[in-house]
Parts: sequence; C-alpha cells; structure tokens
Amino acid sequence: MLKFVRHMHAQAAVPRRALLYVPGNDRRKILKATTLNADCICLDIEDGVSVTAKDVARETISDVLNSATSFAGSEVAVRVNAVSSGMAKKDIACILGGKSPPSAMVVPKVDTLDEAKWLADELKRYEGARGMQLITQVESAQGLLNLNIICNFLSEKLEDINANLAAVIFGSDDFCASIGATRSASGEELLYARQKVVTVAKAYKAQAIDMVHIDFKDMQGFIKYSMQGAAMGFTGKQVIHPSQVAPAHQAFAPSEQRVSWATELIEAFNKHQQEGKGAFVFQGQMIDKPSLLQAQNIKSIADAIVRREL
Ligand code: COA
Ligand code: MG
Repeated sequence: MLKFVRHMHAQAAVPRRALLYVPGNDRRKILKATTLNADCICLDIEDGVSVTAKDVARETISDVLNSATSFAGSEVAVRVNAVSSGMAKKDIACILGGKSPPSAMVVPKVDTLDEAKWLADELKRYEGARGMQLITQVESAQGLLNLNIICNFLSEKLEDINANLAAVIFGSDDFCASIGATRSASGEELLYARQKVVTVAKAYKAQAIDMVHIDFKDMQGFIKYSMQGAAMGFTGKQVIHPSQVAPAHQAFAPSEQRVSWATELIEAFNKHQQEGKGAFVFQGQMIDKPSLLQAQNIKSIADAIVRREL
C-alpha cells in the first residue's frame, strides 16, 4: 500500500473564509501563498494556467507537495481541470498518484450527474483520495439545475472512500457567461444562483464559497460583496490576491458583538428552558428556538476560527 503524508489542515471543520487561488505554474506565488495565512490555498491547474503551461503546473505542484514545503496551517487544495476538458484524468493521476496528496481537491464545472459519477469512479482508484475533502464548483445553468442531484450523489458515494463533499464553490464569471447575464455593480443578476448554491450546499452540510471579486484593487467593493455573501450564508469567498485574504477572514468571521450576543442569548435560552418558559424577550426581541439555532451557528463558526488560530 502506498504510504503518504497528507498536507493536513489544522482543523478539517474550519470554515474556508478565504480560498486563495495560486497559479500552479508560478513557484514564486506558491511560496508567497504559504506566508499569507489563508484558510485554504488552492493550487490551480485550471483557468489560472494557460494551456501551454499545464504540464509545468502539474510538475510544480507535485514537486511542492512532495517536498517539505510548509503551508503553515493552511489547508492545501489542488484545482484540477474540468471533467469535460479531457484533462482531469491526467491531473488527478499526477496529484493523487504522488506520495503526498493534498488534503482537498477542487473540481470545476461539474455540470452533470455523469461527470460526478466519472469523478467518483476515478477517485476510487487512488489510495491518496481516501479521506479527501472534495470541493466542487458550480458555474453553468446546467450545473446549477443539477446541483442537488450532484451533491446528493457525491455526498453518498464519497463515503465509500471515507472522503467528504466539503464545499461547493460558486463560479460567477463562468455562470454569467453561461446564462448570458451582464455583471452589474449591484450583482442582482446573480442573486438567485447565489441563494441556490448556499441552500443546496448547506442541505448537504457542505460549506458554500462565494464568487471571485476580480477587480482586486477595489477593496471597498470586495468588502461590500464579502459582507453580503456572509449575510447570505456563504462560509467564505474565493480570493485571487494577497490583499483580499485578511478582509475575507474578517468579513466571514462573526464580529465580537455578534459572538457576545450569541453567547448571552444561548445562556438566556437555557435559563428560560429550565424555568419552563418557551418564547421570551431578550434585548427587546422575541426569542424562541430559531433564534437559538442562529446563535448556535455563530458560536460554532467563532469557536472553529478560534481553534484554527490557536
Ligand atoms: N497568490 C500568491 N501570491 C500572489 C498572488 C496569489 N494569488 N497574487 C499576487 N501575489 C504576489 C505577487 O507575486 C507579488 O509578490 P512579490 O511582491 O513577492 O513579487 C505580490 O503578491 C503583489 O502582487 P501584485 O504585483 O499586486 O500582483 P501581480 O501583478 O503579481 O498579480 C494577478 C496579479 C491577478 C495576476 C495575481 O494576483 C494572480 O495570479 N491571481 C490568481 C489568479 C488565478 O489563479 N485565477 C484563477 C482563479 S479565478
Ligand atoms: Mg471558472
């Protein structure tokens, strides 16, 4: 049996608040990425790498994974090419065939159940896929319509290899191209898709990772969209530049004020339960079970972040 040392995440359940893409053929950027404390570093072989540089990306990534490179507590993912590209087989062989597979794999443009089936069969062939965190990307009209059956299939099938459907990423730019939408400043053309991605991902207990903000010099816009994504239920955001990591971490972590609110609410709820009371008033608002569940969500995200930072 192949012995391998997986590049483990400090805590598998840590929310991926910032998933940082790094072109897999760019060793300088990869080394820089290891210093940025992103929750997840995603070494790319897909669209961030030109067709002529795919082989260099495969070789560089496998060299980095198999060397003693330290990722300093960041999760390491590799984004392979789409199943429909015909290149995924080679990418997977290169990434999972080595002695040190990444802890996560991102598969873009998963449009159909047949592609998901191909993927599950392919992963099964590799010892290095055992225990892997799989992250799929939805980026087309077809992919969005099929998202439920794809997640359903993968979350069940991956159990066979002790792997996990860990997150679903919304690929907004490809999605806009797929439905013929024009990007606007308000982003209203993407609302339905974003809500659907959050809903389906969460239904399968997977994290939901929001769209890229390609205008990386526009920090105000980045923060605005990050806060909006966090409020919609996204776990985190895809980021493309070092300057976006810290603002994403901040936007997708509950504020101190929200954590205190949640902690006090949970205490008050438990006290009222013991006294046999259901609904009660807390800080001027009616509180019952749904508010408790929201407060528990906030606490569990905050606790996971604290664990990651320890
Ligand atoms: N990961 C790690 N380091 C990065 C980085 C990234 N994604 N993007 C930039 N850097 C580094 C640069 O190498 C530079 O480091 P240095 O000072 O040691 O030379 C520093 O951060 C500042 O970079 P900057 O000069 O502002 O940007 P750039 O012109 O080098 O790169 C992009 C701009 C957009 C090409 C680059 O950010 C990038 O490649 N992003 C990822 C693109 C991608 O993967 N797309 C596919 C998914 S959507
Ligand atoms: Mg894409």
